[in-house]
Amino acid sequence: MITVNVIGAGRWGPNLIRAFHDLAEVRVHVVCDTDESRLALARHRFEGIRTSTTTEDAIADPKADAVVIATPVSTHYELTLAALRAGKHVLVEKPLCGSPIECEELQSLATDRGLVLAVGHVFLFNAGIRKVREYIHSGELGRIFYIHASRTNLGPIRDDVNALWDLASHDLSIFQYWLDAVPTEVTAHGESFLGHQVQDVVIGSYRYPGGVMACVHASWLNPRKVREITIVGSRKMAVWDDMSINEPVRIYNKWVETRRPEAYAEKFGSFPTTIREGDVLIPKVAGPEPVAAECEHFIECIRTGRKPLNHAGLATDVVQALAATDESLRDGGRRVRIPAVTAATSPVEQRREAVGAQGSKARNPDYVPIHTADIR
Ligand SMILES: NC(=O)c1ccc[n+]([C@@H]2O[C@H](COP(=O)([O-])OP(=O)(O)OC[C@H]3O[C@@H](n4cnc5c(N)ncnc54)[C@H](O)[C@@H]3O)[C@@H](O)[C@H]2O)c1
Repeated sequence: MITVNVIGAGRWGPNLIRAFHDLAEVRVHVVCDTDESRLALARHRFEGIRTSTTTEDAIADPKADAVVIATPVSTHYELTLAALRAGKHVLVEKPLCGSPIECEELQSLATDRGLVLAVGHVFLFNAGIRKVREYIHSGELGRIFYIHASRTNLGPIRDDVNALWDLASHDLSIFQYWLDAVPTEVTAHGESFLGHQVQDVVIGSYRYPGGVMACVHASWLNPRKVREITIVGSRKMAVWDDMSINEPVRIYNKWVETRRPEAYAEKFGSFPTTIREGDVLIPKVAGPEPVAAECEHFIECIRTGRKPLNHAGLATDVVQALAATDESLRDGGRRVRIPAVTAATSPVEQRREAVGAQGSKARNPDYVPIHTADIR
């Protein structure tokens, strides 16, 4: 039996409590929130839990193997640090914390103590996102040209982080998972229309190794809830739409053919392009609820000592990109280089090697190899 305590029972916390509650051989022991009204709701919903308004009751609990943190981002660092120091495995919500340095400190502490530190990048457990990764890595889409993500809704409005940190942290984790690479530079624009110091709307444009461009539009000030990503490749194009419950992925057999453009341009003064349009495929996408899969994976990592898919290294890379985006926002959209924070043996590189080992690059002549040097 693995015992989990949860800190934070606001909007998202109850989803985690439920997912752990539903797992066999796992029990949720203490749920903590500084707001007693949230605890009353949790007691009503989940039988048998103890509740407390003091975080120490969740962290120092000798019965607990793990602490799950679903509080505002501004509290993540201190709570995660305290839980790791108390010898607990931690699943903390995204983004890991407010700065890459803090992330690295937490990552090192977890490694030194042999503890699992997983971060709530829940879309890595989304069956549609995984299906698109299969298409990218099999080479079926060809060389990836660009990716465009929209993540909008009306609310929830935060005041400790801007829309980018709150929403685009998901997209950056997805891009990293799909491309097995971290962005090298960013330019971004955003505005604080509601006048509370943090940007309500952010549009960020990232460059990845191999010339891949990726754009994110993140906003909590929008009439429509959109969670959609378009991937344009040299052979096919794909759209992932999380709002489409039964058909979240569409593969478009559409591309543009160009033939020996240099020679042709010399002769005729223009590039020959032909638009090719074929069928649209809707692949079967099946899988468990992402948050349930994430919680099950966390428990499995505790039991086996396996490194989580949503590990702190990936989360640190995401925070590094977010911090660079903030720098660009502050500086009127200046192009900002994103320094690499992960060590030479970073999980990004390990995963890239794993992709190579499966032979996907070899099968796909269009695949742009991502070199280690490109990421530094
Ligand atoms: N993975 C996802 O898809 C997803 C979705 C929503 C939110 N989140 C993340 O979950 C976290 C929480 O978001 P939310 O929407 O639930 O926020 P929320 O404001 O609704 O809930 C946060 C809760 O934490 C409590 N709290 C604040 N400080 C605390 C402290 N020091 N100790 C104990 N309790 C404290 C608050 O009283 C509140 O009930 C954020 O990091 C957010 O980014 C993730």
